[in-house]
Amino acid sequence: MVNELSRIEQFQFNHYLRINAIMLPPIEIISRIIEATPKLNRKHNGAMNYTIKLITSRAARNHLPQILGDIYKNATVIADILQFNKTCDFYSVYKGKKFVGLVAFEKGLPFNSVSFYQTEGFCISLPLAKRFYDFPNTGIEPYYSTVDAKTKDSLESAGLLVDYTPEYQMRYDPKRTKLKGIPKGIEIIRLNEQHLPEISKLFSMVPGMVWTPKSLMYGPYYGAFDGNMLVSVAGAHFNTKYVAEVGNVITLRMYRRRGLARAVTQAVINELNPYSKIIYLSVYVDNTPAVNLYLDMGFEVSGLSYICKYYLTPIFSRKDFPRTLKTPAK
Ligand SMILES: CC(C)(COP(=O)(O)OP(=O)(O)OC[C@H]1O[C@@H](n2cnc3c(N)ncnc32)[C@H](O)[C@@H]1OP(=O)(O)O)[C@@H](O)C(=O)NCCC(=O)NCCS
Repeated sequence: MVNELSRIEQFQFNHYLRINAIMLPPIEIISRIIEATPKLNRKHNGAMNYTIKLITSRAARNHLPQILGDIYKNATVIADILQFNKTCDFYSVYKGKKFVGLVAFEKGLPFNSVSFYQTEGFCISLPLAKRFYDFPNTGIEPYYSTVDAKTKDSLESAGLLVDYTPEYQMRYDPKRTKLKGIPKGIEIIRLNEQHLPEISKLFSMVPGMVWTPKSLMYGPYYGAFDGNMLVSVAGAHFNTKYVAEVGNVITLRMYRRRGLARAVTQAVINELNPYSKIIYLSVYVDNTPAVNLYLDMGFEVSGLSYICKYYLTPIFSRKDFPRTLKTPAK
């Protein structure tokens, strides 16, 4: 492992030299590397018994029984194995011969998303450094994960974290549902590919929605129509028999407070409920309208998580790293 890590560092050094050579005088490059390397070494100390392997999605699926031990905590990894396996790269983490973790890199979204399964607090920067080593050109881009406080802290102490936003995890309890009628003159319809242009238009009005046209494949989406106009949407980011995540809930501004978001979200839940054991969602803690909506519908706050923005290596996370640089051609 020591050799492996020093190879990673060597590689980072070469890569860094390559992308900076034109921009920076050599002495500056060298001083930057010398500064970054001891940090990297310190973080990897004590992590020498770990091996990280890039594995096939079929091999990742073999770990599912263990991962299902805590469905709620491991929801996104479960979805990656069962629904997003064609667009994910999986890395398994072993301590000696024991399987202790799985990291899934999702490539099908407009941004880099990573989910973690951990049985023990192994050094999170190890699989990230391995990823960088395997695909150095992706190291320069930011990565995003929704993680618990402990994982956020380990990203921070490894010098990788650049930003984070707290979110409530909210879990649906059917017993708490208060059903209300659909507002007059509004039709609720299950959305399909024909509706894609209208859905994309609605989502383009609110920044931060995790929407791609492919999202329709992964969960049911329902829309509220006023005549021909789509005025409210809700969907599911993923939808497995173990767990489903509700999301992408939005109402056109001039149609708000008429019970439309409630109606479309309820339609999504009605479809998910008989199929998925656990239904949950994540919402920014300061999004009061949405938090109230979900509380009112029978969701309960079950925990706090953090959307973390980070880089694969401390070098790229540095505030003074020149952001204008382009990723070098492969
Ligand atoms: C959150 C959002 C979807 C709510 O849409 P909506 O159609 O206005 O919601 P509804 O009319 O169905 O509201 C249902 C309940 O939610 C709560 N609620 C909705 N908007 C609220 C607000 N502005 N303030 C406080 N509570 C609010 C209320 O309890 C409301 O019930 P009530 O009107 O009987 O009091 C809408 O504000 C929106 O599109 N926001 C931007 C996108 C977004 O943040 N989506 C959530 C992502 S997780």
